[in-house]
Amino acid sequence: MIQEKEYAKRRARLASLLQPNSIALLCSAEPKIRSNDTEYPYRQNSNFYYLTGFTEPDAALVIIKGKKSFQTYLFVQPKDPQKELWNGSVLGVKKAKKRFLVDAVHSIEHLEAFLQKESEARSEFYYEFAQSTKAVQKVQQLSQKSYTRHNLTKPIERLRLQKSPSEIALIKKGMEITKEAHHHAMQLAKEGMMEYELQAEFEYIFTKRGAYSDAYTTIVAGGNNANTLHYIKNDQKLEAGELILIDAGCEYSYYATDITRTIPVSGKFSDAQRELYSLVLDVEKTIISMIKPGVMRSDLQKVAERMLCEGMVRLGILQGSVKKLLKKKKHKKYFPHGIGHYMGIDVHDSCPYKTKKGKEIPLKPGMVLTIEPGLYLPKDDKKIPKKYRGTGIRIEDDILVTKEGCENLSADIAKEIEEIETLYSS
Ligand code: GLY
Ligand code: MN
Ligand code: MN
Repeated sequence: MIQEKEYAKRRARLASLLQPNSIALLCSAEPKIRSNDTEYPYRQNSNFYYLTGFTEPDAALVIIKGKKSFQTYLFVQPKDPQKELWNGSVLGVKKAKKRFLVDAVHSIEHLEAFLQKESEARSEFYYEFAQSTKAVQKVQQLSQKSYTRHNLTKPIERLRLQKSPSEIALIKKGMEITKEAHHHAMQLAKEGMMEYELQAEFEYIFTKRGAYSDAYTTIVAGGNNANTLHYIKNDQKLEAGELILIDAGCEYSYYATDITRTIPVSGKFSDAQRELYSLVLDVEKTIISMIKPGVMRSDLQKVAERMLCEGMVRLGILQGSVKKLLKKKKHKKYFPHGIGHYMGIDVHDSCPYKTKKGKEIPLKPGMVLTIEPGLYLPKDDKKIPKKYRGTGIRIEDDILVTKEGCENLSADIAKEIEEIETLYSS
């Protein structure tokens, strides 16, 4: 649970990053049509949620900054019994005034007039360039005159880079649920099952434990399907002797988890699968052990690529000198993606990897990032020794950077070969 005081502190930090004499507008997400007049379940805009914790549509946050001081305004849907009959009750202006620590709350109907009036005395406009709500269009019209326009997304993303203790607590709560789901799947997986049956078990646990949603579409990829990186069809049968790559994490109270485990359909790794799995696991553990403040993600990437390349030469998947192979990027064919990404309100948390001047940002306490090395060996690639073909392996954990080093937030989700095999037989 995040306290109102924390949201107020985030708004104050944002205000401190804005130019004097400015006005900033941040709108809630617009509902998305699924088909004709039915909508997808609503999810709040991540930046709006970060600054308000408010989950209703048709809302806006406005910050007016003078020389140094600032005021915050929230605009919300007014109470409307007819609308609420269909869509459920809304908080309304009166209750919003009690809840939010802002200077004033108004009905959303007054937003455009407010922007028009307040803009007269201001020279700088901030709004999310990616948003195109009616209010944003209004701002765009206004700001075509003599205003300087700024993308509000940028300063907010900088604030989101380092997570607070209450944000970490929510990720940990989500991780408990994600752990239960992965262990549940390890106990249930068997030959003849459809991939979507395992997917359903994840969704069942996520919903049953109050997470309501996955943080991204679950991947359950048997055998060669794991070599399609964004495989989400999940409609094939699990065959004996294959591995299953499962990339699944719940979103709990707007915070993501992002975990991959690769497990054997029949509960035991074959010798060839053990060789590949041990290589990926060794890389993953080594990279995690390197994480501490000051380290660059690009260095983690380099070490992972080198270790995977060395391993592939050792196993006869690549031939030649490791140095030359790395230089020619030959290893990329079987490890084509990054070592990891930030995670938070978005699974791929939209926070900067570089400073404004283009310099890489080193790891800092409070950052959360995934570490996810993989090896993808397609079944029709004749250059790969036959025993390894049709295998895709990824192991992914979520890591918190701490003052001293790091904490693996998913350390309790089984990934050692013996742990996984034991879970199967329990
Ligand atoms: N589940 C998406 C990713 O691992 O990046
Ligand atoms: Mn990931
Ligand atoms: Mn993932």
